[in-house]
Amino acid sequence: MNCIERFRLDGKKALVTGGGQGLGKAFAEALAEAGADVAISDIRDETAKKVAEDIRTLGRQSLAIHADTSRIDDVTRMVGKVIETWGRLDIAVNNVGIAIPIKEAIQVTEAEWDKVMDTNLRGTFFCAQVEARAMLPKKQGKIINIASICGHIVWPEPQAIYSISKAGVCHLTRCLAAEWIKHGIRVNSISPGVTRTPDLFPEVIPVFLKTAPIDHVAEVKDLQSAVLYLASETSDFMVGHDLVLDGGYTIM
Ligand SMILES: NC(=O)c1ccc[n+]([C@@H]2O[C@H](COP(=O)([O-])OP(=O)(O)OC[C@H]3O[C@@H](n4cnc5c(N)ncnc54)[C@H](O)[C@@H]3O)[C@@H](O)[C@H]2O)c1
Repeated sequence: MNCIERFRLDGKKALVTGGGQGLGKAFAEALAEAGADVAISDIRDETAKKVAEDIRTLGRQSLAIHADTSRIDDVTRMVGKVIETWGRLDIAVNNVGIAIPIKEAIQVTEAEWDKVMDTNLRGTFFCAQVEARAMLPKKQGKIINIASICGHIVWPEPQAIYSISKAGVCHLTRCLAAEWIKHGIRVNSISPGVTRTPDLFPEVIPVFLKTAPIDHVAEVKDLQSAVLYLASETSDFMVGHDLVLDGGYTIM
């Protein structure tokens, strides 16, 4: 098999959390274009169903699953549905993530902390745990967590909880990767820079452009090939790595 063919995902069974819009939708479409059957989970049923329909028009199988990934019972049911439908899980993209509007850390409430941490950090951890249990019988699998440049640097505007949660996602990726490579499960992450998605806070764009060496924010298509790389066997020697795609923002 040549190098380009090793990017193919024909017959693989994939799951993308928060796949109803934005980056999750783009990741799901990329996996389907490479040949995978893709389950879309989201708290918003209509968008998840629409993405699943679009994937079927590509000739792949798909299913939409209602799941709040900050709830362990939902996560267990979500992965259970994939196994019940396809008998296995090969690729999981833990894409769900939320932020609160710009707010000084001194003002942050316990409820805001809990919501962001439960969704971004706790949710990603338990998604990965339940997915890895499903991958164990085959002794192989690819888990891709979606972090952020905010997990690496301090964003110039106050964004503490989100940033702390994403730094946690980068490190949980390393911890789980180190433990699970013996089971053939590869865990890596992607840290996007500012990317144009439907609910992006527009005020982050000028902040990004002020110091980014590149002159524009990312479109979702700029991130798609990263997920294909991490999902395919081409990345089999990559373990616990965070791929930063940020137009050079974090090198400055
Ligand atoms: N857009 C950016 O600039 C950017 C930059 C860096 C990192 N990221 C990260 O990329 C990921 C996707 O970002 P996006 O901009 O596409 O987000 P988005 O808000 O456009 O989409 C997120 C999706 O997740 C779903 N969702 C939210 N909470 C959920 C929950 N608890 N359970 C299940 N589904 C839930 C939403 O309904 C939505 O469909 C996030 O983790 C985000 O932090 C985004």
